Amino acid sequence: AKHMKEEDKLYRYNGLLYPTIMCSPENLKELETFEAREDDIMLAAYPKCGFNWMIGVLHKIVAAATGRSNENPNNHPKFPPMLEFLDPAKQKTLAAAPSPRVVGTHVPPQNFPKSFFEKKTKILVVFRNPKDTAVSFFHFTNGNPVLPTAESWDKFFSDFISGEVPWGSYFDHALAWEEHMDNPNVMVVTYEYLKENLSEAVQQIASFFNCSLSEEQIQTITQESTFKAMKENSKNSHGPMSNVFFRKGEVGDWKNQFSDAQSQEMDAKFEQFLAGTKLGAQLQY
Ligand code: A3P
Repeated sequence: AKHMKEEDKLYRYNGLLYPTIMCSPENLKELETFEAREDDIMLAAYPKCGFNWMIGVLHKIVAAATGRSNENPNNHPKFPPMLEFLDPAKQKTLAAAPSPRVVGTHVPPQNFPKSFFEKKTKILVVFRNPKDTAVSFFHFTNGNPVLPTAESWDKFFSDFISGEVPWGSYFDHALAWEEHMDNPNVMVVTYEYLKENLSEAVQQIASFFNCSLSEEQIQTITQESTFKAMKENSKNSHGPMSNVFFRKGEVGDWKNQFSDAQSQEMDAKFEQFLAGTKLGAQLQY
């Protein structure tokens, strides 16, 4: 990736930008026909909304509820990664994996494999206020060699606003999930809620997926899933990328990055797309 030209690091598939190295067109094509199961434990999140946090929590919940060993105890991003990171052969091997499978994606719901909605698979969706999401994304694109380095914060901000970033527009994702807010198989949590109420959230997520946990198991998972605990653990698995994936873990870091004009521009965009929506109400910041 280090030797790749910046402009080659992203390409377009079905109208959205994707990282060339991680998400080949073959992967995305194969994903269209991925066979979901009714009992899959599916996580969907726009980039930087808390995917790595929640995929870790879901693996811990499944391990605790089923008694099987944690498939990804170190929460390594490559295993089991997002579906679109798997090449076609690896996607096929998931057909033989025991239930429940923990799977995830950054792809928006209109581009999901159809089988997830046909099978009524339960889907956990994590969202985060757009200002912190943009700041987190800016640091991530600069720290991750497979993604292009932003020319400047101002340039990244305008790309984020116009949706010219990997996996597309935050606002289009949000509007697409808004359509599913009354779907009983979709549970939406926000990063901000998770920060304030982690143990309640662990309990609610476990019961959404019909995983029954003791109070002690919930507390253990909660303690292992704080930012501090996950950052410490990530040194084992992410090596030099640890600080890129587990950067600050705070609510409100946007205040250190946004100009007043940018804050107003984001507020106007939020108003235009999400005012009066159910998801928008959860994302107030
Ligand atoms: P920051 O860049 O603001 O620190 P994703 O996993 O979707 O890429 O999201 C990454 C963001 O989630 C980063 O935000 C990261 O620090 C934060 N994060 C990861 N684990 C977390 C945890 N256990 N608690 C709070 N935030 C966490």
